[in-house]
Amino acid sequence: MRKFITMALAVLSMTAFAEQKTLVAYFSATGTTKAAAEKLAKQHKAVLWEIEASEPYTAADLDWRNEQSRSSVEMREPEARPSIKRCTNIMPYDTIYIGFPIWWGICPRIINSWIDNNLPQLEGKTLIPFATSGSSGIGEAEKYLKKTYPTLKWEKGMLMNKR
Ligand SMILES: Cc1cc2nc3c(=O)[nH]c(=O)nc-3n(C[C@H](O)[C@H](O)[C@H](O)COP(=O)(O)O)c2cc1C
Repeated sequence: MRKFITMALAVLSMTAFAEQKTLVAYFSATGTTKAAAEKLAKQHKAVLWEIEASEPYTAADLDWRNEQSRSSVEMREPEARPSIKRCTNIMPYDTIYIGFPIWWGICPRIINSWIDNNLPQLEGKTLIPFATSGSSGIGEAEKYLKKTYPTLKWEKGMLMNKR
């Protein structure tokens, strides 16, 4: 009986480990990408991780009509790397979905911060970008990520706008 229980526990923990292998990491400024990430995590039985800025984005920061707003300044500056609140342990995962809102056609610079923070552990893992947007596609963001991080293993991205 004891042997059976030990074996059952081992199988259970192996199953739990197998289910932990996909991570959905996302940044969301106003909740749209967060909802898409939650859906994706549920579908793939993945662990969900929110990439949060040390200094949260205010409505004024997100004002794309204002050239001086924080998002406008960051997106004009390719080397901008806004700091992130907590680091992620990506070691256990082989597949990582990386989600973000489209900003000026590509990913917000905080996604670069997250990727830079996690290099070189991201090497060899399967990376799948996903995004939400007002109307833009994810194509430019995919091209940008591949060009910026050519050694990483990028899979086709997904635009997760509600229809
Ligand atoms: C600074 C900024 C720039 C944006 N640029 C674009 C864009 O180029 N194309 C687009 O379709 N939507 C753009 N949007 C709209 C967002 O991509 C869209 O509202 C997204 O779903 C927001 O996701 P979130 O709620 O997870 O932050 C922009 C929004 C902001 C705040």
